[in-house]
Amino acid sequence: MGYFDDKSELVQDIFSRYPGSPQGKRSALMPLLREVQDAHGFVSEPHLAEIASLIGTTATEVRSVMSFYSTYHTVPTGKNHLQVCSTLMCALAGSDELWDHLVETLDVQPGEVTRDGLFSVQKVECLGSCGTAPMLQINDLGYYEQVTRRRCDDLIAAMRAGAMPDPDHPVPAVVLEDGRQVL
Ligand code: FES
Repeated sequence: MGYFDDKSELVQDIFSRYPGSPQGKRSALMPLLREVQDAHGFVSEPHLAEIASLIGTTATEVRSVMSFYSTYHTVPTGKNHLQVCSTLMCALAGSDELWDHLVETLDVQPGEVTRDGLFSVQKVECLGSCGTAPMLQINDLGYYEQVTRRRCDDLIAAMRAGAMPDPDHPVPAVVLEDGRQVL
């Protein structure tokens, strides 16, 4: 069964925002991708093909569009998807070391999810906050600025304690079980 098989109202609602067939339908690609990704954490090949069919294009074209956006994933991600900026300013500020620390601490590589399902990692291009490098983004929520290895450890501890970073407060203060307050 396809993801949208029992969601015809939703599909029609999305299409209604983009009048003018067939180009209008193709403009619905992003919200359809977002719908699936929010539900599953990634867009699988069958879902990708389903979306292509809905908007009258090919899976290859959908995959090509997705490749421009680091926000869309074609493989499963962890509950917390950690994206490290690897562009020049962040690299100069230590993002390579941050990345090495992250993958070593979590014992995970890009495309994998940690055994507990909590974490996945990805290198991404400039996050648009070069003045506060190195930058880390968690899911589509907050940006974390000037992330040192210690700060990275604190963030991981907070997420392991079940504290999701608040998008309105990108540097959350979290009280761990041992009473220690991080960030
Ligand atoms: Fe990393 Fe711009 S280079 S945010």
